[in-house]
Amino acid sequence: MAEIKTLAVVGSGQMGSGIAQLGAMYGLDVWLVDIDSDALLRATKSISSSIQRFVSKSLLSQAAGSDAMRRLKCTSNLEDLHSADIIIEAIVESENVKKKLFSELDKISKASAILASNTSSISITRLASATSRPHQVIGMHFMNPPPIMKLVEIVRGADTSDETFSATKALAERFGKIVICSQDYSGFIVNRILMPMLNEAFFTLYTGVATKEDIDKGMKLGTNHPMGPLELADLIGLDVCLSIMRVLHVGLGDNKYAPCPLLVQYVDAGRLGRKRGIGVYNYQ
Ligand code: CAA
Repeated sequence: MAEIKTLAVVGSGQMGSGIAQLGAMYGLDVWLVDIDSDALLRATKSISSSIQRFVSKSLLSQAAGSDAMRRLKCTSNLEDLHSADIIIEAIVESENVKKKLFSELDKISKASAILASNTSSISITRLASATSRPHQVIGMHFMNPPPIMKLVEIVRGADTSDETFSATKALAERFGKIVICSQDYSGFIVNRILMPMLNEAFFTLYTGVATKEDIDKGMKLGTNHPMGPLELADLIGLDVCLSIMRVLHVGLGDNKYAPCPLLVQYVDAGRLGRKRGIGVYNYQ
């Protein structure tokens, strides 16, 4: 497989912008795509400020930081992605919306391009079925925040080729990440274990066992996690947590994965976490 020189990322939210930042910092030409031009503007600002944090800690020179920003191009036009060697999808966690996008990407991208998904739980095999190149479709799941977290979970669909796997793994390693490999079952490895824990934290709050502060303090200090489960849910996005729990519930067919009613209610109320200024905690 030819060397990956151009990366495209579709979706400019927390995950998409973080992945685009990694590409630009590690020397790739990067297209960041979003239909919402305001979202692209916000993404560019957040990438620039994250790069400045690396520069201020001397983890990146000022010149390398400026080069990275120059390599990053934003667009709302999918057709611009025809030159990309790999396209990573990081849009909303909805199977139907993702399938529609994969079908479009299949048409506009070059024949050799890898189509990867940053999905946190949805079947790669089913996303691949929306394309004519299932052997070039793969899951490349970054952790939030992508520029900081060390792990990339790679998920092989039923037809993902060894060549696609090797090229994707090499790219993750070029970004300084450690790779783990998961079979294509709902939630893969990390979210299958993490999300039920976050959901249980909501049940602990919902049933009045403890305050949110004590639940978070308990897990932070009692088990040495960098963040408590409720503040982590706010960082990830409560809507994302809820979608993943629903995928686990349906995909693994066990009631132990039923989303906590309090999580559902917060999402219904638009309390989506840090990105909305309010979730379990108020950030305004
Ligand atoms: N860009 C650049 N630097 C960043 C950054 C960013 N986006 N975010 C944090 N940092 C840096 C900070 O500058 C700081 O550096 P120094 O220690 O050198 O000063 C360091 O990272 C720590 O940041 P903060 O002091 O702001 O805050 P913190 O100590 O609480 O760390 C955190 C923040 C790295 C997010 C840490 O709290 C953490 O690891 N939390 C857990 C995150 C986690 O579990 N993520 C996985 C979620 S699951 C997932 O993503 C899967 C899914 O599909 C949902």
